[in-house]
Amino acid sequence: MSSVALIGVQWGDEGKGKIIDVLTEQSDIVVRFQGGANAGHTVEIGDEKYVLHLLPSGILREGKTCMIGNGVVMDPFQLVSEITELEERNISVRDRLQLSNRAHVVMPYHKIADGLRESSNKNVKIGTTKRGIGPTYADKANRVGIRAGDFLKLERLEARFRKQAERYNEQFEAQNAEALDIDATWTELKQAAEFLAPMIEDTIVSVNAEMKSGKNILLEGAQGFWLDIDYGTYPFVTSSNTSVGGVCTGAGIAPSKVSDVWGVVKAYTTRVGEGPFPTELHGQEGEDLRAAGNEFGATTGRPRRCGWFDAIACRYAVMVSGVSKLAVTKLDVLDELDEIKVCIAYEIDGERTTEFPADIDDLDKIVPVYQSFAGWKSSTCDCRSWEDLPAKAQEYLTFLSEQIEAPLGIISTGPNRAETFFV
Ligand code: GDP
Ligand code: IMO
Ligand code: MG
Repeated sequence: MSSVALIGVQWGDEGKGKIIDVLTEQSDIVVRFQGGANAGHTVEIGDEKYVLHLLPSGILREGKTCMIGNGVVMDPFQLVSEITELEERNISVRDRLQLSNRAHVVMPYHKIADGLRESSNKNVKIGTTKRGIGPTYADKANRVGIRAGDFLKLERLEARFRKQAERYNEQFEAQNAEALDIDATWTELKQAAEFLAPMIEDTIVSVNAEMKSGKNILLEGAQGFWLDIDYGTYPFVTSSNTSVGGVCTGAGIAPSKVSDVWGVVKAYTTRVGEGPFPTELHGQEGEDLRAAGNEFGATTGRPRRCGWFDAIACRYAVMVSGVSKLAVTKLDVLDELDEIKVCIAYEIDGERTTEFPADIDDLDKIVPVYQSFAGWKSSTCDCRSWEDLPAKAQEYLTFLSEQIEAPLGIISTGPNRAETFFV
């Protein structure tokens, strides 16, 4: 019996979806514990490609139970369309999915509010995914949110929805923005609620009962450590705890029950949206990395900012989340490079540090200190064991692992399920 958590260690898009799919083979139940449809988790199996936003990536393995935990913010329209799409591709979902009755619901007015906040020149632009994440978590904290459990009581749901929608419409009017059509939205919401109602459960009770009966649980994180609302590059963060703490509050699993924490890192770094990125490459080098890694957002299609591996940032994330095993993805993207760099320290106002600063002004001043490696200049795509890797690639990976103080567990050298091996 084990409960294993998996989180992103950088700024998201580390390849969590792929690694979750690999680890699901050894698990019985996969639980998403935070975030919402801002996530875009890609899994490639044979010739098929899937991008999941709300459904746990474990859903792609038949027979496995999946849960959307209480810490997730759930967009009912997105969820219905994702379920329908997978079922059209002959993957059963509804008989294997449980949705927490405590998960907060992302409403269309949250998405409008997210968009308006981003376009207003009164606010700092975060570069959100405009999936309504911030406003939904804000309503949760403000104690005015609507939860999935409300879908089981339609009359009460309608009253709550109309009250909140009217409140938001007043705000939209004050901003000269288009109001939400409350009647039309209610009709659609009711349909989505009826579709999802049979899957709504107390997932906290179910997951703990499954653990007690000896089942293996895999806890699927979304986003990445540096987007965590508490630890990340605030205010350029998402609105949930993407670090391992999110497991306890978002899935209802006690810390003493989490046996291992997988941290997923890319062999370099990417970030999408605004905010500090110390090792970002601005010129041709960054563009080359983006092209080699096909770095475009799985949710919004935006080009991802690209840069070198940041050992300072990753070590901090490993420390806070207690990462016990590393999955390194996209090693193949570096295959053709002459030189590969790793950031091993920062200089701020001429002072050298190996700690990640909290202050946004300090973050903007960082000058990275790099250690340089000669590239291995050969394809790693067909490598299926540590011994198959070129010596220089082994040297690079060993250095990353030592620098960030976490042992290597999985290496990924291509997007496909098959292009992976355990170390
Ligand atoms: P996630 O949000 O962490 O699940 O990551 P995304 O799916 O948003 O982005 C990762 C991208 O890299 C996807 O397009 C994956 O198919 C792809 N990918 C994952 N692992 C590898 C790998 O080892 N090599 C290559 N070339 N692509 C990978
Ligand atoms: P996965 O799970 C990368 C980023 C957005 C923005 C910030 C806040 O695929 O790794 P939000 O919509 O959450 O309010 O946006 O967070 N962001 C992600 N970046 N991968 C993600 O998810 C992300 N989810 C949110 O770009 O900078
Ligand atoms: Mg992604």
